[in-house]
Amino acid sequence: MLLPIRRTARRLLNALRLRRHRKTLYATMGNQPAEYRDYLETQLKRTLGKLDAPLQGRTQLMVDAVARFADLPHSRVLCVGCRNTAELDYFLARGAQSVTGIDLYSGDPRIQVMDMHQMTFPADQFDVLYTVHALEHAHDPAKVAGEIARVVRPQGIVAIEVPVRYPTGGADLVDFENLDKLHALFAPYLDQVLWGEELPAGAPANHSGTPVIRTIFCLR
Ligand SMILES: C[S@@+](CC[C@H](N)C(=O)[O-])C[C@H]1O[C@@H](n2cnc3c(N)ncnc32)[C@H](O)[C@@H]1O
Repeated sequence: MLLPIRRTARRLLNALRLRRHRKTLYATMGNQPAEYRDYLETQLKRTLGKLDAPLQGRTQLMVDAVARFADLPHSRVLCVGCRNTAELDYFLARGAQSVTGIDLYSGDPRIQVMDMHQMTFPADQFDVLYTVHALEHAHDPAKVAGEIARVVRPQGIVAIEVPVRYPTGGADLVDFENLDKLHALFAPYLDQVLWGEELPAGAPANHSGTPVIRTIFCLR
């Protein structure tokens, strides 16, 4: 008896949350074509179901890797598709000068409601850009790559992890397949690959259920 009541209450809460965050999103972004609204709402719905996700092992791994190449105490960091504050807090714990997050909703003043395809930051605003398990949700990856190159200063650092060779569908739109294809997307902007790895599902350093690729590179 209690279970169906709880389930209905959770569904109701999620619908209310979606309505509220959808309103904020469109207030920020203005009118969008119907097909693009569908895209944004699919992403929003998916992430609202996982709001309280704790600090992930991959976050620690990737931020620790970034700390080997970036001078974090002098770095303004942008986390694209951060969902909640877990990765922002971890960057701060590792000594970053400042950390901003963007996502399609915000539960914290440090996270700005912003679409990764149309960032509203001025050019060269960040020293480090971190985007983990978010680029595969892009509607237009080439456009996002251009935005990343715009908001990060020359010689700034970009860190990316995405799942690969997995079944796309729903909110999961892009399969970059391998590091070469991901780097090719950034070819017009990329100066030097600093570090990269490809891990199969089930590898000790990969807690997601799919193979992943990780890369850190600096821009021209
Ligand atoms: C799988 S979560 C990853 C969260 C976190 N980075 C992590 O590693 O656990 C992907 C996030 O990207 C966000 N996202 C999807 N499309 C986006 C877009 N167009 N602009 C900004 N954020 C987006 C989603 O809302 C979601 O919070």
